Amino acid sequence: MKNIKAIILAAGEGKRMKSQKPKVLHEIFNKPMIEYVLEAAEGSGIQEICMVVGHQAEEVKKAITKADVSFVLQKEQLGTGHAVMQAQHFIPAEGEVLILCGDTPLVTAETLQKFLQFHQDENNDVSILSAWVDNPAGYGHIIRDKEGSFLKNIEHKDANAEEKLVCEINTGIYCFQGKKLKEALTRLTNHNQQGEYYLPDTLEIIRKDGGKVNAMIAEDAHEFLGVNSRVQLAEATDVMKKRINLKWMEEGVTLVDPQNTYIGPEVSIGQDTVVLPGCVLEGKTVIGEGCIIGPNSRMTNMILSNGVKFQASTGMDSTIGEETTVGPYAYIRPNCVIGAHVKVGDFVEVKNSVIGNGTKISHLTYIGDTDAGENINFGCGTVTVNYDGKKKFRTTIEDGAFIGCNANLVAPVTVKKGSYIAAGSTVTKDVPEDALAVARSRQQNIEGWTKKH
Ligand code: UD1
Ligand code: CA
Repeated sequence: MKNIKAIILAAGEGKRMKSQKPKVLHEIFNKPMIEYVLEAAEGSGIQEICMVVGHQAEEVKKAITKADVSFVLQKEQLGTGHAVMQAQHFIPAEGEVLILCGDTPLVTAETLQKFLQFHQDENNDVSILSAWVDNPAGYGHIIRDKEGSFLKNIEHKDANAEEKLVCEINTGIYCFQGKKLKEALTRLTNHNQQGEYYLPDTLEIIRKDGGKVNAMIAEDAHEFLGVNSRVQLAEATDVMKKRINLKWMEEGVTLVDPQNTYIGPEVSIGQDTVVLPGCVLEGKTVIGEGCIIGPNSRMTNMILSNGVKFQASTGMDSTIGEETTVGPYAYIRPNCVIGAHVKVGDFVEVKNSVIGNGTKISHLTYIGDTDAGENINFGCGTVTVNYDGKKKFRTTIEDGAFIGCNANLVAPVTVKKGSYIAAGSTVTKDVPEDALAVARSRQQNIEGWTKKH
């Protein structure tokens, strides 16, 4: 396909969101809506993108990290047509331009490709993407003549009673021959209910001039849900959730209750993994094969090898080796490398630590800033005392050590290979290889004490 440019409209305030934040930065699965639109545009093969920003322009610009996007400022938001006028210089005199809205995050690259192909095959001056919806309120209605040819778009607020019933709507996506668009923009007026320059009015202008204007009806209307309010944001999130969950089920992942499973767009999950209800998987989380996740677990940027069981726990920015079990109620904080066949049990918190293969941390333990070797046994209630109120220090525990219950290991401190720490000890000095460290007062029994008192 020819080199086609795209303009994305993202200057509107989004009043109906009732938010301090610009509308297009509201997120679906932790990713701003505008990112989805950008990715769809790029995925359809478009290389040059110009974004029209206005309301809180700086915030929107800051959020866009892609290098190949240029920006133009629309100082006053006088309508979608006015927004495109600000990008005049970007519209090619020879060639085509695709127009997208920043608030329709569900559109896919495949649909855009089909639409561009339609535009080219039909040799249109303008193509508009339309969709059939049950409730057309708030959208522009597509008005056709008796033969079914496109006549015009009429905004809901300007439509008469009969037009308001038309369920074929404007998705807000168009492909223009650059020259025709430039010319039509000079003739736009704002004589309508909202006093705005409507971009879709250019279609009627071009048609009346004898141009070829055609609408392509999209297959799946869900892709064009415009997000103008929090209710529509939730609806869009639901559509995205279903789309993502369906994909993983098709890839061989069991989702016991897909309705109650939230998988981000950049997460990946291996075959035969079972995700139990109430899980939220975020960021660039990668889950291996044959894992059991949940119920009620949250993970952000976690990497899990095969066969991990992660039950009712939270984890972030860490990796977990094969066949390791986590939870219930464990908390894996950033920067942990947890080995294979490890047990991280209930009410265990691990932070910025390395845990070697086969080590067991079964219950009620805090491991922070620690390098722990293989096959260590942590007794219930172990605490690595890593903070003196000013600085953090590391604890080193070598392979095969046995840490008795309720021990404090005051960092910086090293517990060498094969040594034992007696239960209840507060260890402040290094423990040599194969030694027993006892750091508590001796027990004294006072005979007959109870009867005397
Ligand atoms: C628009 C269309 C409507 C279509 C619907 C699809 C017009 C007049 N109406 O209505 O036919 O059915 O989208 O979702 O185009 N924007 C600017 N500058 C402005 C105004 C808007 O950049 O001055 C941007 C917004 O940030 C948004 C997009 O354009 O991303 C659409 O604007 P919005 O106000 O949401 O239009 P709708 O009323 O939804
Ligand atoms: Ca909209």
